[in-house]
Amino acid sequence: MQSILEQLSVRREEARLGGGKTRIDSQHSRGKLTARERLELLLDIDSFEEFDMFIKHRSTDFGMDKSHIPGDGVVTGWGTINGRKVFVYAQDFTVYGGSLSETHAKKICKIQEMALKNNAPIIGLSDSGGARIQEGVAALAGYSDVFQNNILASGVIPQISVIMGPSAGGAVYSPALTDFIFMVRDSSYMFLTGPDVLKTVTNEVVTAEELGGAKTHTSKSSVADGAYDNDMEAIAEIRRLFDFLPLNNREGTPSRPFFDCSDRIEDSLDTLVPENPNLPYDMRELIEKVADESDFFEIQADFAKNILCGFVRIEGQTIGVVANQPTVLAGCLDSDASRKAARFVRFCDCFEIPVLTFVDVPGFLPGLSQEYGGVIKHGAKLLYAYGEATVPKVTVITRKAFGGAYCVMASKHLRGDINYAWPTAQIAVMGAKGAVEVLHRQDLKNEDKTAQHIADYEETFLSPFRAAERGYIDDVIQPHNTRRRISRAFALLKDKKISNPWKKHGNLPL
Ligand code: HXC
Repeated sequence: MQSILEQLSVRREEARLGGGKTRIDSQHSRGKLTARERLELLLDIDSFEEFDMFIKHRSTDFGMDKSHIPGDGVVTGWGTINGRKVFVYAQDFTVYGGSLSETHAKKICKIQEMALKNNAPIIGLSDSGGARIQEGVAALAGYSDVFQNNILASGVIPQISVIMGPSAGGAVYSPALTDFIFMVRDSSYMFLTGPDVLKTVTNEVVTAEELGGAKTHTSKSSVADGAYDNDMEAIAEIRRLFDFLPLNNREGTPSRPFFDCSDRIEDSLDTLVPENPNLPYDMRELIEKVADESDFFEIQADFAKNILCGFVRIEGQTIGVVANQPTVLAGCLDSDASRKAARFVRFCDCFEIPVLTFVDVPGFLPGLSQEYGGVIKHGAKLLYAYGEATVPKVTVITRKAFGGAYCVMASKHLRGDINYAWPTAQIAVMGAKGAVEVLHRQDLKNEDKTAQHIADYEETFLSPFRAAERGYIDDVIQPHNTRRRISRAFALLKDKKISNPWKKHGNLPL
């Protein structure tokens, strides 16, 4: 018996060593942790249960029948993060470069299917050279099976990808099908075709970092939702994000004890909006002053900075926040901001996370590049996302809410549940100057008359009261009371239930 038990220990030790000490050292020398080290940090101590650690690939071509490393380049299993269950996989670059074989894919598929069956999120840590070249179409089939499972799990359980090494070719599509992608600066990259192919085909010369590094994907392409300096920081932040998320689409948002008074008065908010309506202010300050313990987990912080998206808690419950940011492009909506916010609102709606919207938007950004870039379709995405969402929606207009952007930003007309405005709100078709230029073109040469028209327009329209008189704004609130009013609004909406007409699925303007 003793020798049988010892044999198991030996086999486990062998499997845990992956591609061996030299390759582990090489991984470390690049500032990267190994798959198992990453999972150890990601999961609660002693909570990891591994599956399929003895699996071996079945390929026989190119001498592969003489090379078998148990586990086949991916470590899979489940564990807990702060006590809540999660399924995980981590590709092991020390084994055939983390490349995906038929059996490697089967391991990931098993985890995906178990996550779906057991209603728990899945986190994938990617570090892979892509399809196992020696396996040909079997590897491609494996990828396709993973993609199909990603698609079936979408909107049912949260799926998170962390890119911690290479992710090239079609391999990028599994992360792209998940809800969030995070990257590690300087050690991860994602692209469909690498720099060498680019040079040959298009004559473009770029480094891997420029082509598909964390900076590119968080600030230019918006493929990634965040980037961190190293593996440890990335994993710590994923744990933080995980705490905000529900386990599935039926469980409801997690609620946890909070140590922040819901009646907290924030006098500084009374002067947040500058007297001069053309001056910016930082909307992040409002978000942080309203959130429990000022904790704001921002999504896509480096992309479309004219809109802020992320998670906060109010009275311990997770809330998704969308807010125009007046410090960038005066908070205008454009194609990128619309896409970014639409995807975020849809994530929240999938997983029953209530949405809080702060509005200060002078309109859609005008311009040829916006029109040519399809701002009509992109703006419609956000409109669609808000209009389709059935979760509780609370909106606060702090200053400008002009034109189509007023309608889009979770207005009453898109089934906003509670719509508040600060006394500084200006709700109108457009700003005073633009309106007078259209309405009083004949008087534009007369400065006094124009000034009078502007003053009249401001007096009549640039306040929250016209909207409040019609019930489009439920109340005009004191800025310093915002946290209290929002907390009460979400508490009221806790049992909200509405549904959309039956359909197979809608046709989001993609
Ligand atoms: C088999 C692979 C591999 C792969 C790497 N290795 N990628 N083995 N299939 N795809 C092996 C290497 O042979 C090497 O083995 C070990 O992993 C480490 O790789 P290195 O090249 O030494 O590492 P590094 O210098 O860091 O370069 C990493 C790399 C490079 C940039 C990822 O390995 C590379 O370019 N690999 C090929 C990438 C690729 O073209 N993949 C296919 C993409 S297409 P030894 O034994 O020497 O240590 C694709 C289609 C998917 O994925 C379609 C889905 C629909």
